[in-house]
Amino acid sequence: MNISLKGKKALVGGSSDGIGKAIALQLANSGASVTLVSRNEDKLKKIVAALPTSAGQKHQYLVVDYTNFNDYKDKVQHFFKINTIDILVNNTQGPSAGNSLEKNIDDYQSAFDLLFKTTVLTTDLALKNMIKNKWGRVINVASVSVKEPLSYLALSNTIRAAVVTWGKSLAADVGPHQITVNNILTGYFDTNRITNLNEAKAKQLHISVDEVRNQMEAKVSLQRIGKPEEYGYLVTFLASDNAAYITGTAIPIDGGLLKSM
Ligand SMILES: NC(=O)c1ccc[n+]([C@@H]2O[C@H](COP(=O)([O-])OP(=O)(O)OC[C@H]3O[C@@H](n4cnc5c(N)ncnc54)[C@H](OP(=O)(O)O)[C@@H]3O)[C@@H](O)[C@H]2O)c1
Repeated sequence: MNISLKGKKALVGGSSDGIGKAIALQLANSGASVTLVSRNEDKLKKIVAALPTSAGQKHQYLVVDYTNFNDYKDKVQHFFKINTIDILVNNTQGPSAGNSLEKNIDDYQSAFDLLFKTTVLTTDLALKNMIKNKWGRVINVASVSVKEPLSYLALSNTIRAAVVTWGKSLAADVGPHQITVNNILTGYFDTNRITNLNEAKAKQLHISVDEVRNQMEAKVSLQRIGKPEEYGYLVTFLASDNAAYITGTAIPIDGGLLKSM
């Protein structure tokens, strides 16, 4: 099976690092022109310069801060006034850690703005061109916590469920336009996010970071943390014509972390 995204334009959220960067790289490797999004312009510039261009790809970046919704709205609306895209990967940084007793209503509102409102806004703007072209891909980076809530991640557990249910509803509504919408239930991946969460957990439990990581790996059937490029392969497949009949799904990529069916 050959995957070619030649001529397709993708926008990937949170893509100067971690999962988003790996997705951007694989999409570009398959021929897509990619717009990278994050806060750090220097990092974005360097990544854009390093992405492949042999299939005529034209890469660019957009500097935003997802934690300031009004500012994000202005910037992304301006972006879509002068750009169109075919493939949208909704990915932002995760909300802060903590259990339900530590979070108040303002924390839930902030997490809602960060994860849900940015996703719906960006998708609405991207859909206009997808509907016109009768082709489009919307891929939401979610979490296994939608099926089995993770300890100490009350905000993520709660709001990601809303994103996935919205994605499922949207899939039915845009299906007649040959646009697919899929949610990815992310397990453990080797990124800064996991390093930071593990450091916080080690402090809380008075154990070493290595011990936290060992415990994490022991929960996974494959006994290891995922590599970001493995995530990029799944997204690239879902973005391709080969995945035209896959929509409305919530696909785990977790090495067997989830124990439920
Ligand atoms: N890694 C895992 O094991 C795992 C598991 C389940 C779910 N997830 C979820 O997957 C998503 C990606 O995680 P990751 O592990 O790839 O995280 P990461 O390595 O920390 O990368 C986060 C990306 O988002 C950007 N970013 C962070 N804060 C931002 C802000 N306020 N505005 C704009 N861009 C921002 C970062 O770039 P700048 O700092 O340059 O802005 C970076 O490119 C998160 O929502 C996370 O909760 C991850």
